[in-house]
Amino acid sequence: MRVHVADHPLITHKLTVLRDVNTPSPVFRALVEELMTLLAYEGTRGVKVEPVEIQTPVSPTTGVRIAEPRPLIVPILRAGLGMLEGMTKLVPTAEVGFLGMARNEETLEPTTYAERLPDDLTGRQCFVLDPMLATGGSLAAAIEFLLKRGATDVTAICILAAPEGLAFLEQELEGHDVTIVLGALDERLNELGYIVPGLGDAGDRLYGTV
Ligand code: URA
Repeated sequence: MRVHVADHPLITHKLTVLRDVNTPSPVFRALVEELMTLLAYEGTRGVKVEPVEIQTPVSPTTGVRIAEPRPLIVPILRAGLGMLEGMTKLVPTAEVGFLGMARNEETLEPTTYAERLPDDLTGRQCFVLDPMLATGGSLAAAIEFLLKRGATDVTAICILAAPEGLAFLEQELEGHDVTIVLGALDERLNELGYIVPGLGDAGDRLYGTV
């Protein structure tokens, strides 16, 4: 597993406004989208391309285009939805699948409550969107779900992460071709499972409390 923390003053500036408890929901949503576009740029460095012959006004030349099969973007419901638009802006030809993960209150294991994905992901590059990598339980389960369907190349893009969650992913996904791209790596998780300093509950700040 590879971890890449995007280190850019624009990302840190936008993250600071995002973290601020006084930032209202509409600004929060717009910033998540902007941050996602910046993180998508980092996260798609390894996107597969194929050569294509074109003609410029001056001469023929060889360029590249995104290869088939098209990349698959998988936002994890609900907070990952806030990142989707920022990603599709940059990779408009990608396909989008959906995964809803929740914790089973009896077993405490993450379970899939919604799924709209191709049955066979062999050869597909998958980009999983989940803003907060906290314990890592649901992200690990989502990535394992994609690997079981045949995906061999998974990149997860998260706005913030806790070291505990990264360590859990390292342990669960050892030996797999997985890249984690982060806006920032925070200090720790608190006793309630929130990332510190973090930004609070990303889903609530995007969509309100339900
Ligand atoms: N999920 C969130 O939305 N925030 C956290 O701090 C941890 C998990």
